[in-house]
Amino acid sequence: MTKIGFIGAGKMAQAIIKGLDKSKFSIQISGYDFSESEKVASELEVSAAKNHAELIATAEIIILAVKPYVIPEILAQYKSNKPIVSIAAGVTLANLTEMTSQTQAIVRVMPNINATIQKATTGIVRNNNVSDETFAIVKTIFTSIGSLHEIAEKDFGTFTALAGSSPAYIYMFIDAMSRAGVLHGMPKDASTKIVAETVMASAEMILASDDNPWTLVDNVSSPGGTTVAGVVSLEQNNFVATVIDAITATVDKNKSMMQS
Ligand SMILES: NC(=O)c1ccc[n+]([C@@H]2O[C@H](COP(=O)([O-])OP(=O)(O)OC[C@H]3O[C@@H](n4cnc5c(N)ncnc54)[C@H](OP(=O)(O)O)[C@@H]3O)[C@@H](O)[C@H]2O)c1
Repeated sequence: MTKIGFIGAGKMAQAIIKGLDKSKFSIQISGYDFSESEKVASELEVSAAKNHAELIATAEIIILAVKPYVIPEILAQYKSNKPIVSIAAGVTLANLTEMTSQTQAIVRVMPNINATIQKATTGIVRNNNVSDETFAIVKTIFTSIGSLHEIAEKDFGTFTALAGSSPAYIYMFIDAMSRAGVLHGMPKDASTKIVAETVMASAEMILASDDNPWTLVDNVSSPGGTTVAGVVSLEQNNFVATVIDAITATVDKNKSMMQS
């Protein structure tokens, strides 16, 4: 059984722990406050370490699940040569190496909010010090909460836009469609449910199909029909360009935050 220690036991740590198979992993948490950690540990049926030092001594893999600004103080205070996994947005392998050592094994992971329903889309990258065996264990951890994509670190900013921020844009799209349903006389709750179910099934269609999305658009657009009228209207209103601009704005903002 692999011993995993979570430093920080907030939303994301709890979501990951909920998805983990407790027969494969022995899990300990250490949050900001011991009594709070004990409460969370008992809810999640894991154990709470008395402090970070105890957790680091026990764990085989340490997951840093605190906000990015907390990581420097933790890594400065607690030294260990055990593999660390960071889920902190915007903190690079180079940043983490600077805070530890050139020989430190580090995995950088970027889950998204869908971890809360065990359907995260997660990006992962390791440095050269991480063994294949350790990397396989870390991949098992994050596969338990959804899908996992091994990506180059240079693509983390784009991944963050496509998977981290995009739920907000998809919520906006669903709400806009559902509002249109209201405009045409349907109740908002029913409209939202109908659109959300359709978005989910359409995404499943894309994943199940070898066709690219535009072919699927063509497949539902019969000549002179209703769907093509809407497709043309979306295009006349720059739907594709608007979405691409939004993703580019997200990627650019991420770059500017990394530089400041
Ligand atoms: N939420 C997301 O959708 C998401 C997605 C991708 C990545 N992430 C990353 O995941 C990390 C955690 O985010 P989150 O959403 O889980 O935040 P969160 O709910 O605020 O959890 C962070 C936890 O760390 C605790 N903490 C603060 N200082 C600490 C310390 N010195 N030692 C131990 N624990 C400490 C906080 O306790 P207090 O509340 O008592 O301060 C809180 O419980 C962040 O780095 C974020 O960038 C989050």
